[in-house]
Order: sequence, then structure tokens, then C-alpha cells
Amino acid sequence: MCGIFGYVNYYVQRSRSEIVDTVLNGLARLEYRGYDSAGLAIDGDKPDEVLLFKEVGKVAALRKLYASSKINNDRLFDSHVAIAHTRWATHGRPSPINAHPHRSDPNNEFVIVHNGIITNYLALKALLTSKGFVFESDTDTECIAKLCKYVYDLNKDSARPLDFTALAKLVLRELQGSYGLLIKSVHYPDEIIATRKGSPLLIGIKTEQKLKVDFVDVEFPELPDITVANNIPTITTPESAGLSNLTVPHLMTSNLLMPMDGSDLRRSQSRAFISEEGTPMNAEFFLASDPASIIEHTKKVLYLEDDDIAHIYDGELHIHRVRREAGEPAIRSIQTLEMELNEIMKGSFDHFMQKEIFEQPESIINTMRGRIDFEKKTVTLGGLSSYLGTIRRCRRIIMIACGTSYHSCMATRAIFEELTEIPTTVELASDFLDRRSPVFRDDTCIFVSQSGETADSMLALQYCAERGALTVGIVNSVGSSISRQTNCGVHINAGPEIGVASTKAYTSQYVALVMMALLLSDDSISKYERRTSIIDGLSKISSQVEEVLKLNDTIRGIAETDLAQQKSLLLLGRGYQHATALEGALKIKEISYMHSEGVLAGELKHGVLALVDATMPIIFLATHDSLFPKVMSAVEQVIARSGNPIILCNKGESALSKLGKTYRTLEIPQTVDCLQGLLNVIPLQLMSYWLAVKKGYDVDFPRNLAKAVTVE
Ligand code: AGP
Repeated sequence: MCGIFGYVNYYVQRSRSEIVDTVLNGLARLEYRGYDSAGLAIDGDKPDEVLLFKEVGKVAALRKLYASSKINNDRLFDSHVAIAHTRWATHGRPSPINAHPHRSDPNNEFVIVHNGIITNYLALKALLTSKGFVFESDTDTECIAKLCKYVYDLNKDSARPLDFTALAKLVLRELQGSYGLLIKSVHYPDEIIATRKGSPLLIGIKTEQKLKVDFVDVEFPELPDITVANNIPTITTPESAGLSNLTVPHLMTSNLLMPMDGSDLRRSQSRAFISEEGTPMNAEFFLASDPASIIEHTKKVLYLEDDDIAHIYDGELHIHRVRREAGEPAIRSIQTLEMELNEIMKGSFDHFMQKEIFEQPESIINTMRGRIDFEKKTVTLGGLSSYLGTIRRCRRIIMIACGTSYHSCMATRAIFEELTEIPTTVELASDFLDRRSPVFRDDTCIFVSQSGETADSMLALQYCAERGALTVGIVNSVGSSISRQTNCGVHINAGPEIGVASTKAYTSQYVALVMMALLLSDDSISKYERRTSIIDGLSKISSQVEEVLKLNDTIRGIAETDLAQQKSLLLLGRGYQHATALEGALKIKEISYMHSEGVLAGELKHGVLALVDATMPIIFLATHDSLFPKVMSAVEQVIARSGNPIILCNKGESALSKLGKTYRTLEIPQTVDCLQGLLNVIPLQLMSYWLAVKKGYDVDFPRNLAKAVTVE
């Protein structure tokens, strides 16, 4: 998905090549999110000159383009603003012209990078075109840059010049949709605007001197805000008549002028950034859509909230809002990131996905660390403690997620119902929203997401919150939108997951959900034995995962010699193993581009059996649980049709001997039924990995996919 990186140096002298390296390295750290083109904007050598570099393909291609430009790399800048972007095409194919930064005009007076979608861009484009602007790209984003210039030009001759914040406020109120946005302009040299609505954005701060306070005050207008002052009804453009979402609320000349009674935003000082002597300190700021791109520079970060307008100038960071809602916090904390640089490096592994598969013995432990007391058989989840009573009393639990995260919900739904005795449903976020499913105040809605930024899950979260349900987040990315917008939750602590194919996040989500079910049922005497056996199972699970990983070479062999040439693959399981089959199939599709289907084994005879013959590759998840006899019956049906399945079974499974010799096995250690999926999924993750490697595909960056899917 799109990535944003910006760099501001204030009286920290940097050469142009250092600045460009910083932004290109920042973009490279965002590569794992998936993108198809990249670009950057920096200052030129002439006054008021901004240079744009944009290229299709990898950041390396952009680096090459820049290197070929013969620009003076040694030029020194005491202060400077650079912005950069990796684009994942939504409006318009990947091309240099559609890549960001987008500009207001051929002189690059305003340049912007944007994540998200502007839903009323057609109306804005039509109006700006009628005002003489010539659009060059197919994107929704370009209208923001042009709107900046339009507003600037309207106000430039007024008695009081428009400062950058005031300009941003006027521009933002015209935009509908979602954005993470950086704006740079020749009219505001060495200043930057960073703002977000529904798309993540954070600011890393690096100063030599210690910050005076570890927060930034939020600045609210002292006088009625420009948005309120201009109480103009929404105007629908002729072009968009009938389309309620294509409106431009104030885009009439008179309404884009700064009112004379607007607050003087330059009056304030940002307390954190003032030195002992009372002057601003030398500082560097790193603006990014993802903390992974800034931790090599600083661990001090400030996460912007929706509708925050951050304005950096003269070494100070200011946060503005257009109005103050009751009870709204008046500060934004500067936090310390816990992430380490080596966590986002590949180390000795060939791919991030491979590294993350092999990290699972440790990531699972990290999910449980400090939360399970294996001796006392208790679970503590601090993030839920104030809400346990509410959840225990709720009418039903709805788990909502997408993709792999949805599968972790599927994998744990049964144990949730068994232990909590609360009806539990599992929903795909997009389908849940499409159906406008009824949600009530006494529902508990659990949102499971690795990134915490998935648009469908976020929209479902807003939908449930509006209806008064309790919202719980099970999230990996600390500081992400879902983790901040839910009432309570659990961080899965799997560490950064870079590979687009989710692996360690799946097993950690699974463990976090099981822990939640254990916690919710710890007041039930009748569940004591069952809970104890699950907690005992969890105490051994990490070493069992290590044991399964020893199958790596065997699985590689199967992938390379038996499966790589195949067109299709069926994975069959039932009960707890249905989710494993679905997740294995998704992994295989996603990175090896091979059609694979996870099938509930009980459904075999209702249609899928027609596909079975001696050539159809089939994997059975036939580890031991109460449904094992039924799975075996499905295995027999396949073998009776000349099928040659691979059977994933527990070590020394004797029931297979009656099947003859037309199958192979992958033997997995046995654990408690509801945890078995944690072990069974690992051979499937490895299989997808080796299939993709064998086919020569880009394992960490599968085609057409992104790590964080921040568009609907
Ligand atoms: C997993 O391998 C996929 N890349 C994808 O299905 C992913 O799980 C899904 O997009 C949800 O993402 P999230 O967990 O970040 O919300």
C-alpha cells in the first residue's frame, strides 16, 4: 500500500545527497507494504525551485533516476524539507505522471504526497479545471495540490498573509475521503504540513538537546474557527449533481478567503522544542506512515490523530485542530518506540517471510510473556482488565477481520464459544459492512488486525462504535488506528511483520485470542480442567513449533518436486482444522500464485469430490481430535478415487496403516485440539514459501498485494 516519508532538518546542516539518501532509505523501509512507483520532492538550486523525481517500479529505480540527473549533490542545506512516496495504484495506472509527489502547477509551487482516497475528487477537479487549472495525472490526489495553489492565490493579496496552517485548514475542509498528507511549498520554505484522516501518519523527532517536555500542546482556535465562521451550505457542482458524495462544500471564491478574525497561529511557541535559552533547538523530523521507516533515526515519535494538522517550522512542531470537542485531550504525547532496527532486517534469511516463519517459537512466547502464569494457571491481559465484566455480560461476541486475521478468528471461534458460553460469530469486515449487519449496545466486537490499519476493518470498527457496541482490538502494530480507536484490547507483540504474507502474526493472533477466551472463563469452575489443559498446552507450544520447523527440508522437497508443476491444490480439514486449511490455501495463492482451495472436509462429498482423481494434489489436515474418524472417512473417499493425498497427521498415527501405500505423511507433534492449528499451519507456511522460491517469485512482495490494505 502507499507509503509516505518526509524529512525536515532545521539548523542541522545536511548535503543534498544526505537528504536524498535519508528519504530514499525511508522509502525502502516501506517497500514491504507493496507499491508500484515512487517519487520525491526536494529543493533545487535556484530560489523557489522544487525538483520532482518520479519513477515506476522499485525505490532502486527512483535512486537510479535521481543519480542520472547530474544534480549538485554536495550543495549544503542548513534547513530543508523533502517529501517522498511509494504509490500503489488506485486511480490511474502506475506511471511517472501518476506517481507522487503531485504538483499544483508547472512551477511546483505546492507539492504533496498522499495516502488514501479523495472521494470528491471529480467535483474538485471539475471546478479547478473551470478555474484554469490543467490536470496532468489520472489520480484523485492531484486535486489537493491544485486546491492549495488556488486557495493561496485567492488570499495572497489580502491584508494579512495566509500562514501555512490556515491554508491547510481551508484546503482540508474541501476534501472528502481519507488521507495521510504531506504538503511542501515554495511559499513556505523549510516548512511542512502533515495531516491525517483515516490513514496513519507519525512524526519522529531527533534533537541533540533533551526535549523540555514529552508532549506537544494541541492548539485550538481561540476565536470561532474558519470552518464555523463560514457557515456556507454544501454546494453540489453541476458535474456531480445527484451524486451526494461528490460535493465541494466551500469551493466558491468568497468562502476560501481567510476571515479577518482568524486566530493568529504564529503567536504560540511549542514548549517541547524550546531550549534552555528560550530559543528553538536544532532538530530533525521524520514524517512517515509507518514507524519501521524511522527507527534507524530516532525512537521518539508522536502519532497524529485524525484531523490533526501538524505544522513544522523554525524547528518547532505545532499541532492544530479546527475545533475543540468536549473532553478532547489538549496534548499529543511523544512516545518511545520499542522496536529495534534488527527486528526489521532480514539477518541471515533470504526473505522476511522466511525469517518470520522461523521466528514463531519466539514470537509466540512474546505474545504470552507476562500474561500467562503457567504454574498458577492464570491469564492476565492488562488491556482488557477494566472491561472484563462488560464482555462477560455481553449478548454475543462478533469477531471481525480480513484475510489471515479472519482465519485466526475462525481458528479460535469454537474455543471461545466453549469456554465463554457466549454466542460467537466471525465476520469478514467487508461482507459485514455490505450487509449493514445489526449491532447492538450489548455486543462485544473484536477487531483482529496485524497492521491495525486495514480499511475494511476500520470502517467496521467505526460502524460498531457508532452503534454503541464495546470494541476490542487484537492488533500487532502499536499506535495503529485500530489499536487507538477501540475501547480496549491486546497487542499481540509478534514484532514487526514485514513479509506481505502474514505468518507470525497469525500464530500470535491465535494465541492472543485463546488467552482472551481463557481469561473470560476464569470464573467458571466447570471449565477449570479444560482451561488447565490448554494452559499446559500453551506452555509447550513454542518448543513444538521448533520441532515442526525441522520439517523444513522435507517440505521444501515436496514443494519443489511434487507441487511446483501443479496448477491447483486442495487442502481439507474440519473442526479446528478448517481454519488451517483456509489459511494454508491463502498463503499458497498469495505468494506462489497457484490456485489452492481450503475445503471443509465434511463438504467434500457435496461437490468437491468431482475434482478428485490420481492427478489432483490434496493435503489433508488429519491430526488427532474428536473429528479425526470423520476426516479419515474423507481420506478414504479420496483414496478410493485414486487420489494420492499428503496427510498431515500426528506422530506415529496408527489409524493410517489401513489406507495402503498411496499417500505420504507429514508428522506433527500433538497438542490440545484447540491449539493444534498453531502447529499444523507451519508446514503450510513453509510449503507456500518454497513453492514461491522455486517459481522464482518475489516472496516478500507478491504481485498486486500490499501489506496494509488501507483502501476499501
Ligand atoms: C495475509 O497473508 C494477507 N496479506 C492478508 O490477508 C491480511 O491478513 C489482510 O489484508 C488483513 O490485514 P490485517 O491483519 O493487517 O488487518
